[in-house]
Amino acid sequence: MQFPIKAKLKDGTPVELVLAENDDVAAVQDLYRVIVEEGTSYPHQHPLDREGVVDYWFRGKTTIVAYSTEDPRAEGLLGAFYLKPNWPGRARKVANAGFIVAPAWRNKGLGWLLGATMLDYARSLGYHSVIFNLVFSQNPVARALWVKLGFSDLGVIPRAVENADGTYQDAVIMFCSLK
Ligand SMILES: CC(C)(COP(=O)(O)OP(=O)(O)OC[C@H]1O[C@@H](n2cnc3c(N)ncnc32)[C@H](O)[C@@H]1OP(=O)(O)O)[C@@H](O)C(=O)NCCC(=O)NCCS
Repeated sequence: MQFPIKAKLKDGTPVELVLAENDDVAAVQDLYRVIVEEGTSYPHQHPLDREGVVDYWFRGKTTIVAYSTEDPRAEGLLGAFYLKPNWPGRARKVANAGFIVAPAWRNKGLGWLLGATMLDYARSLGYHSVIFNLVFSQNPVARALWVKLGFSDLGVIPRAVENADGTYQDAVIMFCSLK
């Protein structure tokens, strides 16, 4: 599979998905700060420093970033995903991935494009399947998107995630076979 991948969002915006480089770390850090502040999709409670972002989003992973090609720098980072083995060694053919789309760029088909690209890429790298370990049960947009891309629920981790108000929500483990 070859990057960059060029595509158009539902609103006609031309986008390019490229393999992330060192220069993209700051943009991923900025977007992940927004995601952590939302507090509704990832476990971190506080923004990550640069080293934390490198560790969570880049180290041991393949990271893909999406930019608008009309004026890439002016628009900033639209979204990103990482792909990695979920386990080492004998279980390395089960992949894991994480996705983020900037709030202003949601509901334009970018999440679907990133997800479909991840599945093609994972297949081309020889993975047998993809598992999501911690899909927040109260994240209906993500859950519906993953079902649309071929994932199904494997199980529920009761009260896995603490909400901002101190209550807890379940997390769902989702799985997609690439065979
Ligand atoms: C989940 C996420 C990646 C989806 O990205 P996106 O670019 O908005 O995704 P898309 O535009 O491809 O699809 C969104 C779908 O959700 C639907 N949707 C939007 N708001 C919704 C809502 N409140 N309830 C149900 N569906 C909703 C849209 O209609 C669209 O469906 P359609 O394509 O069938 O019309 C993005 O919302 C995000 O980054 N969220 C925060 C991080 C996150 O949740 N990551 C995944 C963790 S498992």
